[in-house]
Amino acid sequence: MVTVQYNPFIPEVHADPYPLYHRLREENPVHWSELLEAWVLTRYDDVVAVLKDKRFSANRRQARNRFVQQAAAMQEQGGPLTGAATMLSSDPPEHTRLRGLVSKAFTVRAIDAMRPHIQEIVDELLDAVQERGRMDIIQDLAYPLPVIVIAEMLGVPPERRDTFKRWSDDLVATLGGPLVAPEVQERARRSAQEMADYFRSVIEERRREPKEDLLSALLAAEERGEVLSEEELLATCILLLAAGNETTTNLIGNGVLALLRNPDQLERLRADPSLTESAVEEFLRYDGPVQATGRVAMEDIEIDGTVVQEGQVAMCMLAAADRDPAQFPDPDRLDVPRQDNRHVAFGFGIHFCLGAPLARVEAQIAFPALLRRMPDLRLATDQVEWGGTFILRGLKKLPVEFDT
Ligand code: HEM
Repeated sequence: MVTVQYNPFIPEVHADPYPLYHRLREENPVHWSELLEAWVLTRYDDVVAVLKDKRFSANRRQARNRFVQQAAAMQEQGGPLTGAATMLSSDPPEHTRLRGLVSKAFTVRAIDAMRPHIQEIVDELLDAVQERGRMDIIQDLAYPLPVIVIAEMLGVPPERRDTFKRWSDDLVATLGGPLVAPEVQERARRSAQEMADYFRSVIEERRREPKEDLLSALLAAEERGEVLSEEELLATCILLLAAGNETTTNLIGNGVLALLRNPDQLERLRADPSLTESAVEEFLRYDGPVQATGRVAMEDIEIDGTVVQEGQVAMCMLAAADRDPAQFPDPDRLDVPRQDNRHVAFGFGIHFCLGAPLARVEAQIAFPALLRRMPDLRLATDQVEWGGTFILRGLKKLPVEFDT
């Protein structure tokens, strides 16, 4: 008799879903959620197995699940994504083609070359608050940093950044599953349309006059080999924006909160910046920005003795997998020097996050700069406020104080 239920919409669960993930994993690791009309998987091994299994599709439109269909239909009406699949929701061979071109711009080497410029952006953001002795980590650092970086990569002028951020926020807000209100959907549809119109005009400009940006590089490749249609290119630009902003914001926000709640780890990282790389991986594991991703069974598939029927959705709870004691010793402990940290915060298999090198570099620059420049960083509130959705979990605000 199963009593544990997965309901991520209870505020206490959203504020700290990990005790529930543990219960699910122990009592009912392949859990049918009536609420989500999906199987909820919480074991590391099951999550990885589904993500690498070709019998599970990333094309959610095929799902027999009304929320997923609702979201897919909304995307289709959304203007720029009409007809054009993105890599995130396609299977090979389309996935290979759609990802191939963009992946050249996102190699570790290409992103590494951006380090000095990302450092400049972080310094500017921190300069603006340094004298104040207080800041909101989200508003002043975690939120603007990724949008400035990706907007520049796509060749968007600085004066359009705020509009850009609004578009991407509106799109991301639709990832909330059953609780997405019609007005939220309508706003997303309008923003997607505006964003598409904007990109169409920039694409025109870049065709006439290429620049040194990612968009020009994508266009050049498209013109040479007809690899991407214009609609696909548009959908790709929008995907890059939407996929990279709130996620990176949440990595920085959730990571700073984790450090502030674990002062010994904060001290350790401050004293030894060479731990930055492992610390960023640990933030991703400990409280990842993307809690879950779904796949659709293309045939009946058995997982641990339970049959997932063709057309049903398996929700891979990445954040639960990353706290599985069978994979990570002492999983609820934040351990900045943690070794052998094979977390799935960026997913697993062919859809492994394309932007991972960029997100990593941004965080690897932001954390040491913050700890170096803001001594005695401390929380300026007793209660943090969680926002986002059950899939993209992050803070609305994170007020901190520091000595000037
Ligand atoms: C800490 C920040 C980030 C996290 C935690 C994250 C997480 C993820 C996850 C879990 C997936 C796999 C989804 C699935 O399997 O269904 C994914 C895919 C993807 N991410 Fe990220 N992401 C981050 C930042 C970024 C950035 C900065 C970009 C680009 C600018 C980006 C672009 C993408 C793209 C294009 C995909 C689709 C890849 C594919 O389908 O082949 N992400 N990300």
